[in-house]
Amino acid sequence: MLIYLIVLALVAIVCYSLFINRIKGLPPGPPPLPIIGNFHQFEVDLDKKFFGWKKKYGKVFTIWMPHPTVVITDHKLLQEHIVKDGDKFADRINPKEMMTSLVGGELGLVFNDNNMWREQRRFALHALRNVGFNNATIQNTAIDYSQEIISRWKQQGEGRKPVDVTMGLMVGVSNIIWQQTFGRTLQYDDPLIEVVKNIAQELVVQMAHPAVFAMELFPIIRKFDGIIGSPIKKMIEINDKILDLLDKELTLVEKHFNEDEAPKCYADAFIGEMKRREAKGEELGTFTHQQLVVACYDIWTAGFETTVTTLRFLIHYMINHPEVQLKAQREIDEHTGKRSIQMDDQKVLHYCNAIIQEVQRLANIVTINFTRKVSAPVNIEGYDIPVGTGVIPEFSIVHLDENEFERPDFFCPERHIDENGEFIKDPRITPFSVGKRSCLGEGLARMELFLYFTSFIQHLTFSSPSKVPPSLNLQITFTRSPGPFKVVIDRRD
Ligand code: HEM
Repeated sequence: MLIYLIVLALVAIVCYSLFINRIKGLPPGPPPLPIIGNFHQFEVDLDKKFFGWKKKYGKVFTIWMPHPTVVITDHKLLQEHIVKDGDKFADRINPKEMMTSLVGGELGLVFNDNNMWREQRRFALHALRNVGFNNATIQNTAIDYSQEIISRWKQQGEGRKPVDVTMGLMVGVSNIIWQQTFGRTLQYDDPLIEVVKNIAQELVVQMAHPAVFAMELFPIIRKFDGIIGSPIKKMIEINDKILDLLDKELTLVEKHFNEDEAPKCYADAFIGEMKRREAKGEELGTFTHQQLVVACYDIWTAGFETTVTTLRFLIHYMINHPEVQLKAQREIDEHTGKRSIQMDDQKVLHYCNAIIQEVQRLANIVTINFTRKVSAPVNIEGYDIPVGTGVIPEFSIVHLDENEFERPDFFCPERHIDENGEFIKDPRITPFSVGKRSCLGEGLARMELFLYFTSFIQHLTFSSPSKVPPSLNLQITFTRSPGPFKVVIDRRD
């Protein structure tokens, strides 16, 4: 009898694995297991897995995480659905349990409730634009910081001593975000930057604990947290340190808030909106204190590591391709000489733009893109995808697709230069994703990448401390970043 039951269970599992996609009318994909879906087939470097599945099942395939999720890996299909039919792909499937444990609910700007994202995203974009996001003020701030970083690197690299550029990049990037969010300039040596970085690193390690993932599926795990070494409690404690820090910073903003002055930063604008609603006797709606804290948290987490990592990739590629660096420096010398580089110079620094685009094509720093949720019935490649299904717009696979790019693994900025020597902006390269939930900070990030990268190589030459330059030695967590490396820095002035 027992054997009969075991055989029956195995047959049921095999049938489920092989036929569940067909039964649900979804695109084919790797056979999932009940409850855990395809988690057992995931690897740290998911792109490799996705490539294999694309070859086997086609441009669109289904994975179970453990909810069914359709992965789109083709440029034309991304445009056709995620961009042109954007409203149907604007909601997200959020890590609800994690958000509840860490910040008290689906709040903020990234994993917020699907009923609030529009209002909060629109407000954030508007507020950030008004306080200088993408305009001359913030451009000047970036130029000033770049000069400070360059002079520090010159000192640190005296006598051709190898330097780790990470901290300098962190200072540059964090200062811009801090200023936009809280209106405060941090000094180069402000310990806050290191403190936040260290807590964030601890948090990433704790978040990768299997119990944290399992909690999404089985919320009851929280009750047994103590028995398994309290990984969830530890994660919450680490996270609380960040929330405390943000709260302290927000107290300062509130203290200096002056309703007769134009908002100086995102938090100022948000507090102003809360006060406006209160004064008019209106409901606060989504404009609560906790939403403000989590939104500031999101601007920080989404904008910090992504930009620092991309800049580290850029410098890493320069020490591996000195001829490319030299060509970019000649272009800068010819067009701007020694004066400060401005955003307007983007129009003439074609080769520099090509380097940034090529590095972003290859770097693909977001390990797996965030999951959207279909909010109205859609048909993708002949499959009727029901409401509630997950969708991942996996643009990184497009970036490395041999049908799109010749020798896709090969670093070649020249591929983005036309016969007149001008930069070709390639619509297939979308490191900030596509559609209604694409990166909110794209404009700011593009500005930082351009100004920091070009200013650095205008004044300095980066090279490898060893004859054979270091390999990327990718470190993969929620992002993909080059492993630790040092550079020799030579002054150009
Ligand atoms: C090189 C730097 C950056 C890269 C590569 C990057 C990339 C991305 C990607 C791939 C997404 C997910 C889009 C999707 O769901 O399809 C995203 C979302 C987001 N990013 Fe960025 N990002 C960068 C910098 C920034 C900066 C500087 C900010 C600061 C404001 C920022 C804020 C956000 C926010 C708030 C979201 C969530 C948007 C939403 O859900 O509506 N990012 N980013």
